Amino acid sequence: MKTEYLKITGDARTDEEVIERAAAVIRRGGLVAIPTETVYGLAGSALLEDSAKKIYAAKGRPSDNPLIVHIAYPEDAERIAYPDEIFTALAGRFMPGPLTVVLPKKDCIPDTVTAGGDTVAVRCPSNPVAHRLIEVSGHPIAAPSANRSGIPSPTRAEHVLADMDGRIDMILDGGPCEIGLESTVIRLDGNGSCTILRPGAVTAEMLGEVCRSVRIAPAVIEPSLANGIRPESPGMKYKHYAPKADLLLVDAPHDAFADYVRTHAEGKYGVLAWDEDAALFPEGALLSLGPRGDAREASRRLFSLLRQADERAFTTVYAELPPAEGETLAYYNRIIRAAGCRIIRP
Ligand code: TXA
Ligand code: MG
Repeated sequence: MKTEYLKITGDARTDEEVIERAAAVIRRGGLVAIPTETVYGLAGSALLEDSAKKIYAAKGRPSDNPLIVHIAYPEDAERIAYPDEIFTALAGRFMPGPLTVVLPKKDCIPDTVTAGGDTVAVRCPSNPVAHRLIEVSGHPIAAPSANRSGIPSPTRAEHVLADMDGRIDMILDGGPCEIGLESTVIRLDGNGSCTILRPGAVTAEMLGEVCRSVRIAPAVIEPSLANGIRPESPGMKYKHYAPKADLLLVDAPHDAFADYVRTHAEGKYGVLAWDEDAALFPEGALLSLGPRGDAREASRRLFSLLRQADERAFTTVYAELPPAEGETLAYYNRIIRAAGCRIIRP
C-alpha cells in the first residue's frame, strides 16, 4: 500500500482540502495517522468493524486491547455511549483535552473496537486537525497511538512514517505534539468517584476538583506483571514504550545517579539527563530532558528521546527514577514500562 504524506501548513484553505481528503479515507474504511495534543493517533472509523481490524493489523496490536473512540464534542458521547452526570461535569472541566473516560457502550460501536467488552473509552481531542477530521468525516474515530505495538508512541509525524509507511493510507503531519504522553484514562465508579487506569496530563489532583474521590489503580505505579496484580485495563498488561536499547532506571539522588553512571557505564551508552547535569556526562551520551524538574518538558520529550536512543545506536540508556506523584506520575508510569520495570537501587 502506498502511504500518502500530507503536511498541515496553517493555510486554512489548503488545510481544509487536506482534511476533506483524509475524511474521505475514513468514510471509506481506510486509515489516517493524525496529530493530537497527546501523541499521534492511528485513525479509522469507529463505526466500521473492518477499520478496527485494519488498525489492529497495522499496529500488530493484540486484539484484546480495546481502542479509544474520539468525538468532536462531549455532547456526541451520547451517540456511542451512556454518559452520566459525572461525565458531563468532567467534560465541562477537561474536554476538549487529554482525558479519556470509560463508559457503557451503545450497540453502534462494533465489538472489535472494544475488544468484546461492554464499555467504550471516549475522548474529545483539542488538537484542531483531529477535531476537524472527526467533524468533517461525520464518524466517531477509533485511534490508538500510531506506533507499532510495544515501542514508544509517536510524537512527530516522522515517527509515524518510520513505523507505518506502506501499512496505512495517509499521514497528516501537524508538527510535534504539545503534551507528548497519552491521555489520562479513567473509569467511573459511581457516587462521583473514579479510578485512574492510565495517568496523563489531567492529574489525580485535577480530577479531584470534580470527583468526590480519585483512586489510582495499583498497576499504574506497581508494575502489574511483576507483582501479580490483576490488570484493571487490558493495556496494563503489555510490554510498552520500549526502545531497542536496554533502559536502566536508577533510584538515587542525582549526584549518586551521575556517580553510578560514571562507574558502571560501558560501551555505547546514553543518559537521559537534565540540562543542569549535562556537564557530568560525555556529550555523545546526552539525551536532554530539559530543565530539571520541568515535568511537562520532560514528558513532551520522553518518547522522542527513546526513539533517538535507537537512532544513535545506544545499547544502554540510563535514567533517574522519577517520583511517582503529581505531574510526574504519567512520566513515571511510561518510563518504568519502557524499562521493563527493572529498577536499580545502588
Ligand atoms: O492520548 C491518547 O489517548 C492517544 C491519542 C491518539 O488519542 N490514544 C491512545 O490509545 O493512547 P491507545 O490505544 O494507545 O491506548 C488506549 C488505552 C489502552 O491502555 C487501553 O487498554 C485503554 O486505553 N482502554 C481502551 N478502551 C478501554 C476500555 N473500554 N476499558 C478500559 N481501558 C480501555
Ligand atoms: Mg498506545
